[in-house]
Amino acid sequence: MKIIVINGSPRGMKGMTGRLLEEVVAGVSQAGAEVETVLLNDITIKPCTACDACHKIGHCPVQDDFEPLKKKLLEADGFVLASPNYIFSVTAQMKAFFDRCCGIIHCHELEGKYAALVETSGGGGDDEVLGYMSRFVTSLGAVTVGGVGSVGAGWRTFPEQDTLFAKAQGLGQDLCAAIKEKRVFPEQEEARLAFKARMEQLIGYMGEVWTYEKEFWVSRNR
Ligand SMILES: Cc1cc2nc3c(=O)[nH]c(=O)nc-3n(C[C@H](O)[C@H](O)[C@H](O)COP(=O)(O)O)c2cc1C
Repeated sequence: MKIIVINGSPRGMKGMTGRLLEEVVAGVSQAGAEVETVLLNDITIKPCTACDACHKIGHCPVQDDFEPLKKKLLEADGFVLASPNYIFSVTAQMKAFFDRCCGIIHCHELEGKYAALVETSGGGGDDEVLGYMSRFVTSLGAVTVGGVGSVGAGWRTFPEQDTLFAKAQGLGQDLCAAIKEKRVFPEQEEARLAFKARMEQLIGYMGEVWTYEKEFWVSRNR
């Protein structure tokens, strides 16, 4: 089992998000999965240029590290997204990655994959950011096993840290358990399938120009 961990903190694993993420990764490793961590700050994911090429040819022509990361995601069984709260949302590094996933979203291409979410903040709003990341996961076609978020209580420490770290480790283990048992999350299915139907409709409207995506949907439905 392969899990890709994507950390959008500019501090990489050295900051608050990295510290909480360490515990999730420990849980994933305890469950016996292979983990690969990608620090967005150490690679180059430029902002989307809205050229629409991904919809027409199936890959992004922007020359940077996005396509190799996309390949890793497509090959993984599950993934972890981690970001600090930056102005009620994710970091610019993570948002650039989200935007570049537009083609994957149109094809709902991560259907069958599972995700776990990690967030830290200076003053709260954790559920808002986790909720936003979860909506992104739904748009990709994947399901969210759960999320862990917290304010800090000093440098790389958290309030009620033992409980929080136990939850984070449990989340990593649960991500792997959900993948193994192909767990179904009925409460997410309505939103996911509605999003999928909307994408199919959109590609139906745009198929003459978004030729790659049209072919993708035709072969999926064959
Ligand atoms: C540019 C910037 C914006 C931030 N915006 C928020 C915010 O809106 N709400 C909040 O609670 N914390 C905010 N914070 C604090 C971080 O979310 C918090 O310190 C986080 O734990 C840092 O994680 P890191 O060490 O992994 O970077 C912000 C920090 C920065 C640098």
